[in-house]
Amino acid sequence: MAGTDPAAAGWAGESEQGVPGGEGVPGDRAARRASTPGRASVRDIARVALRVGLPTLAGGVVVRRKQGVALAARLDADRHAVELLNELRRRYGPGPLHLRLAGRDIVLPLSAEDAQRVLDETPEPFTPAARLKRDALGHFQPHGVLISTGQERDERRAFTEDVLETGRHLHHLAPQFVRTVREEAGGLLAEAAAGAQGSGRLDWGTFDAAWWRIVRRVVLGDAARDDTTLTARLGRLRGFGNWSALVPTRATAGPRERFQQSLRAHLDRAEPGSLAEALARTPAKPGVDPAGQVPHWLFAFDAAGIAAARALALLATHPAQEQQVRNELVIPDLTRPQLLPYTRACVMESVRLWPTTPFLLRESTRETRWGEGTLPEGTAFLVYAPYFHRDGSAPYGDRFVPEIWLEGTAHTGPELVPFSAGPGVCPGEDLVLLVTSTLVAALMERHDFRLHGPDGLRADGPLPYTLNHFALRFSAAARP
Ligand code: HEM
Repeated sequence: MAGTDPAAAGWAGESEQGVPGGEGVPGDRAARRASTPGRASVRDIARVALRVGLPTLAGGVVVRRKQGVALAARLDADRHAVELLNELRRRYGPGPLHLRLAGRDIVLPLSAEDAQRVLDETPEPFTPAARLKRDALGHFQPHGVLISTGQERDERRAFTEDVLETGRHLHHLAPQFVRTVREEAGGLLAEAAAGAQGSGRLDWGTFDAAWWRIVRRVVLGDAARDDTTLTARLGRLRGFGNWSALVPTRATAGPRERFQQSLRAHLDRAEPGSLAEALARTPAKPGVDPAGQVPHWLFAFDAAGIAAARALALLATHPAQEQQVRNELVIPDLTRPQLLPYTRACVMESVRLWPTTPFLLRESTRETRWGEGTLPEGTAFLVYAPYFHRDGSAPYGDRFVPEIWLEGTAHTGPELVPFSAGPGVCPGEDLVLLVTSTLVAALMERHDFRLHGPDGLRADGPLPYTLNHFALRFSAAARP
């Protein structure tokens, strides 16, 4: 949504009357032009809770649960959620859908422009540090920028952008990152060829283990490569995060301290060529807590591995797009950092089709005006990405079309938000695309991939709304 002027964005079917006076604060124009909220009936609240909320919670918000994801995929849960929201938009209109649930005000923006407003007006009056998120993420990253507020948030955000080099396609440490990714990709292919499954078989477990070796090396340095205990400790805390306030953060102080200690030991080395080195070299204001930003990076790299594996699955089932990637890989020297725009666009499609952050959550810090109505302070706003990404009227909707990220289609409207948008946009996007596109390129450079599961990924039909990454199974054969 970044870069779109709300005034030029269409605001289709929404109240244009305006409200006399106005609030006299930034965003007032958007508030007046936004659509009026619709109040959902008790029956519809129950349907939203069941079809939109429950599958996401069952699948795990902070760390994915194998069985929950498998069940959601079997039911193609996201499809039912999107269909329901489309129905509710037809019945209630395009305004934000207001639900009163368990004593809380919860709002689902149903127009891309309203979603854009929430993201653009972050962190005031729509803070990302929503209570639910603080409860969930506080288990492992109590000082992370995403759950920080005020000046601390600004300073942590600026520091994070400096270290991750947000906005720069090739991080200055890219040569080292590319070397790391290629080494681990080589190891993964060798493991697949020699492994118990034989004949180049590659399942999620093998892929995921190699991915985490990459992540630990990129973030903390080569000495952290085999520190699976660190990842397991983080995984346990993320597991508590799935239960949000049901497990209070004071109950997890011990595991958190153990995780932080082992993380600090790695960061203290500031190993050359790793983000830990960049972190140590970057000046930080006193309230930043540089080490306290790193748990989010480790946690978020998990999603990037899922996105990369799904991109590989898409390419293994779409010969025309696979050929485009191969064309892109022919000329450049892949041992050095390369832009690989088409391969990056494949990863973007992976997160468009199956957003790894399905809910973008904000909480209002004051009463906000929406067209003719208002919503109280403390309202939780849930931007449900699959609903916006799978717009049935868009020609790309349920198909794999990397071209939309190259020719501008994806950027003409505010709909596509796999990395969020506005001032809270993911500061790791460039780094993610560098690492994942390098991995996909390294794997495909000399190997053909076939997908053996899950079913349903076909070039000649609509793609499923829910894809169980745990069930991904490939075979890789050396190219002649
Ligand atoms: C496929 C991979 C990733 C995706 C799809 C993704 C997506 C997102 C999204 C949607 C948000 C906004 C969340 C919200 O508004 O509630 C976000 C925030 C953030 N991401 Fe990522 N992310 C990815 C990987 C990463 C990585 C690898 C890093 C760091 C190395 C990172 C760092 C951050 C940070 C620090 C924030 C908080 C920003 C803020 O509050 O200002 N992300 N990401």
